[in-house]
Amino acid sequence: MGFLLSIYVGVVAFMVASVARGDPLVPMLCVFGDSVVDVGNNNHLNTLIKSNFPPYGRDFVTHTPTGRFCNGKLATDFTAEYLGFDSYPPAYLSQDARGKNLLIGANFASAGSGFYDRTAQFYRAISLTQQLAYYKEYQDKVVSMVGKDSANTMFSGGIHLLSAGSSDFIQNYYINPMLQRTYTPDQFSDILIRSFSAFVQNLYGVGVRRIGVTTLPPTGCLPAAITLFGGGSNQCIGRLNQDAVAFNNKLNTTAQYLKSRFPGLKVVVFDIYQPLLDLITKPSDQGFFESRKACCGTGTIETSLLCNARSVGTCSNATQYVFWDGFHPSEAANKVIAQALLQQGFDLIS
Ligand SMILES: *[C@@H]1O[C@H](CO)[C@@H](O)[C@H](O)[C@H]1NC(C)=O
Ligand SMILES: *[C@@H]1O[C@H](CO)[C@@H](O)[C@H](O)[C@H]1NC(C)=O
Repeated sequence: MGFLLSIYVGVVAFMVASVARGDPLVPMLCVFGDSVVDVGNNNHLNTLIKSNFPPYGRDFVTHTPTGRFCNGKLATDFTAEYLGFDSYPPAYLSQDARGKNLLIGANFASAGSGFYDRTAQFYRAISLTQQLAYYKEYQDKVVSMVGKDSANTMFSGGIHLLSAGSSDFIQNYYINPMLQRTYTPDQFSDILIRSFSAFVQNLYGVGVRRIGVTTLPPTGCLPAAITLFGGGSNQCIGRLNQDAVAFNNKLNTTAQYLKSRFPGLKVVVFDIYQPLLDLITKPSDQGFFESRKACCGTGTIETSLLCNARSVGTCSNATQYVFWDGFHPSEAANKVIAQALLQQGFDLIS
């Protein structure tokens, strides 16, 4: 334990030193997935799932809405900072995503998307299949800027993060009687996992070697899920959390399998389930006081268009709220989650 701890301290010291020089630990960071990591791609889509209006973004660096589903930074924004980047990978559909800006990576995530392409289609979001197509287009742009050899070094050394699955369950499976008649949660999970596996193999095929995937959060504890599916109870919904845990175990097994099958591939499963559950069940341990109600509006249901400048009841200070809106953690909670990710992510950096 003492030995592991000193390695840990050593790596952190190394990272801090590196950050101080403004010299990132990895050549680039690319992000895929859903609203948990979207930094503004949906602003450019004909979808209702948006967040580019107040009060979203009120505590962000620029104090303006960006399309992040948060009052401030996402967990992946903190991750980019911890890795030593001095700006965030741009939303691929935005004006910022061109020229040199692309050389630190790009963000392809889209709120309302998931492992299951039909979830994205339903919300007119960017499906994971399309995110992958954009990524290949992105690679071509990088190759044309820096040449094939440097580009390949970037693709193999860069970190590729995927955060998906919440919308597949909460905004699709649990509200879709036909899906529920066709598949048990376990069978639906298998469909999502097959999509994950194909995604990893596709990235591997275009030279990617370092992939991180987040687990599902405790979906049964999201404020809007409790309101929608809790039958009047104020407690986390055990059934949903059990589905999330079962999915997460499959994800972990599949990641181990992919790692063993493809030489040189690193796949890290980032557990966000436990850190978020700890925050929700024991908020005061980490300086929070509210985990049932989100900051925005009544805090029991609102997200996207329903969380807006006219929402009644929005809290004035979100720093002690675990949730910013009905589905998404606050910046303060994202910081705690990002610190947990950092501890789990050494494998991807080394
Ligand atoms: C994945 O499985 C490994 C080995 O069984 C275990 O040590 C690890 O904690 C699991 N990770 C997650 C995120 O569940
Ligand atoms: C919010 O509250 C925290 C402590 O609870 C305090 O440090 C911070 O300054 C407050 N922010 C604003 C904008 O009032």
